[in-house]
Amino acid sequence: MKKHNFSAGPCVLPQEVFLKASEAVMDFNGSGLSLIEISHRSKDFVEVMEKARSLALELLGLENKGYKALFLQGGASMQFLMAAYNLLENKAGYLNTGTWSSKAVKEAKMFGDVIEVGSSKDENFNYIPKGYNIPDGLDYLHLTSNNTIFGTQIKKFPKTEAPLVCDMSSDIFSRQLDFTQFDLIYAGAQKNMGPAGTTLVVIKEDILGKVTRQIPSMLDYQVHISKDSMFNTPPVFAVYTSMLTLEWLKNLGGISAIEETNDKKAQLVYSEVDLNPLFEGFAKKEDRSNMNATFNLTDEKLKETFESMVKDAGINGINGHRSVGGYRASMYNALSLESVGILVDVMSELERTA
Ligand SMILES: Cc1ncc(COP(=O)(O)O)c(C=O)c1O
Repeated sequence: MKKHNFSAGPCVLPQEVFLKASEAVMDFNGSGLSLIEISHRSKDFVEVMEKARSLALELLGLENKGYKALFLQGGASMQFLMAAYNLLENKAGYLNTGTWSSKAVKEAKMFGDVIEVGSSKDENFNYIPKGYNIPDGLDYLHLTSNNTIFGTQIKKFPKTEAPLVCDMSSDIFSRQLDFTQFDLIYAGAQKNMGPAGTTLVVIKEDILGKVTRQIPSMLDYQVHISKDSMFNTPPVFAVYTSMLTLEWLKNLGGISAIEETNDKKAQLVYSEVDLNPLFEGFAKKEDRSNMNATFNLTDEKLKETFESMVKDAGINGINGHRSVGGYRASMYNALSLESVGILVDVMSELERTA
């Protein structure tokens, strides 16, 4: 039986993407060769890379606006470092909304002053700080749009003169935003895009070249831009699969279409969490993530029963992160409304039978 996969990442991808990607591993474009054995400089692969880069910009509405898209390696964790390496000369602001923002802060401190403009650490990151002061003269302000572990999501982005850098690893391509407000967006592929192994970086070129330090080639955005994201051998399988997912999203109607389904999925699960007395949400209501819903049982004695019902229903990956506990239903783009319905049925069945 095909499972309903609520994993936080790596996670569910569209079935048709799995199928096409596996076909390409056996025989890429009818060439008699596998996608993973051909040269990354071959015409066929260069076309894949170019298509992936242009689809990313097109879906975000950033074509012809001075942005470049790159598919790099090292995960979003490498971007914690690269963003600071390339942009931090004096001081940068960071909004600390969880584990991933904290890790980004740690890396940035190696390159300059880091001002934590706000933090929700006081309540185990169950909310997004608001009304915080953004000092003048920042090299950039860094945000994490969706906090995968805690299940919070920024709904309104701050207005600032400073370049805006955003880790969108767990909600990129899931909702419509004015993406021109960001100067640097990065996201590990392994949630809404593809398998682990590549990271999408979308960068406004005019923010580069302002720091005085020397930057090692592999960590220099300008080097990767000048080589069309082919400075060294790219992770061909991860880029190809990401391209397929972006194509799937475009054919579906783009971000606006998927956002509609994502809203329905989130409403379904949160209304059950709120109405069912056996469950309580972790994140503050106004900051709830549409991608990762975090919740707990109100009576721990029901844990075993609930988890065995979940298993019987073919639901996979809803255990919460160890720093939060409880449950986390990750509802990325490729997870169907039907799968969320199955989870909600199990939750209400528990209430009926417990
Ligand atoms: C919001 C966010 N940022 C960064 C990361 C780290 O990504 P990676 O494992 O690609 O380095 C994750 C991983 O789940 C994440 O959810």
